[in-house]
Amino acid sequence: MADLKMKGNHVLEVEDLHTSFATDRGRVDAVNGITFAIDKGGTLGIVGESGSGKSVASLSILQLLEGTTAHIRKGQIRFMGQDLLTLSRAQMRKIRGNRIAMIFQEPMTSLNPTMTIGSQIAEPIIFHQGKNRRQAWNAAVEMLELVGMPEPRKRARQYPFELSGGMRQRVMIAIALACGPDVLICDEPTTALDVTIQAQILTLVKRLQREMGTSIIMITHDLGVIAETCDFVAVMYCGKIVEYTRAFNLFTDPKHPYSKGLLESIPSHEEDSDENLKTIEGTVPSPYELPPGCAFAPRCPYAKEICHETMPELDGEPEQKVRCHIYQTTSTESPTEGGTVASYIQISDMWKGEELW
Ligand SMILES: Nc1ncnc2c1ncn2[C@@H]1O[C@H](COP(=O)(O)OP(=O)(O)OP(=O)(O)O)[C@@H](O)[C@H]1O
Ligand code: SF4
Ligand SMILES: [Mg+2]
Repeated sequence: MADLKMKGNHVLEVEDLHTSFATDRGRVDAVNGITFAIDKGGTLGIVGESGSGKSVASLSILQLLEGTTAHIRKGQIRFMGQDLLTLSRAQMRKIRGNRIAMIFQEPMTSLNPTMTIGSQIAEPIIFHQGKNRRQAWNAAVEMLELVGMPEPRKRARQYPFELSGGMRQRVMIAIALACGPDVLICDEPTTALDVTIQAQILTLVKRLQREMGTSIIMITHDLGVIAETCDFVAVMYCGKIVEYTRAFNLFTDPKHPYSKGLLESIPSHEEDSDENLKTIEGTVPSPYELPPGCAFAPRCPYAKEICHETMPELDGEPEQKVRCHIYQTTSTESPTEGGTVASYIQISDMWKGEELW
């Protein structure tokens, strides 16, 4: 394997990734040409409704789709400059769980019920770092301590069923971080937990990230989690990124109609707020019957004729891109430093003069 080296500050770069499933009813393009990059120590959120391709994207990165009918049809997944899609299975095993690790949504189904949690944390340490059993066990106890497990020495000898949901998720984090990965993928890491434990786990992930310099992909339905943890966010819809922007921009100045719809459906925290909660009209189209043109067009209040015919490109400046006919870059020159997004993303002629939002 060639030496792994970061390109600029990018630890991971995903470029034009396409992953499809062969099914009895035809091909499902679960991930349909996504591109993003993550900086060292940065956090990228991926948000979108169920079925938008968030998990398939992360499973593609780790090549964990074996045993399904999935096929990565196109694209590159460059980790430290090396395209993971060119690696052999043995080479990929050295990366997975070591340099790139993942925390899954449901810890009970991801933990082995027949092994003590100490052994499950020690396993990757033995496999990837060549430590002996005693050394790995001690490192496992240290990891449990690091993730805030009370009585770590005693807990290490227990089985998953003896722990609460929050503790099991801490164990998952300990396993994922055992080898000090460069990238940690968190797929809905707190969905199964109650709000207080959820907050504790997110605080823990952020603290460990600061201490270890890990880059994180945070997959979630919850925009609150994005606001708490992410620098950048990719909004996905039907296998494509429809907006890629700084998290701050998403909350203060969302561009894509779907992003706006997601934000408008967040409940207000103000107790006496009488604001009616909006929902996005309609449902996500079936992956077998994606509409021609923009996949959001059947639900979009701003859809025009062209939206039903042509899929817009993801367009804009590197730090705020939108896939929508409303926005287009009018200049081929790169935006000047210090210029605002509004200074070069123009509303196309088609929508000029209309009240948009
Ligand atoms: N094993 C499979 N066989 C066929 N299609 C699949 C398979 N796994 C996923 N898909 C399809 O891929 C698409 C994307 O699924 P994915 O699990 O990535 O969605 P998601 O965004 O993670 O959703 P959720 O928020 O519910 O976790 C969906 O349309 C789904 O039906
Ligand atoms: S391209 Fe058209 S249909 Fe799609 S989000 Fe933009 S305005 Fe709506
Ligand atoms: Mg998922």
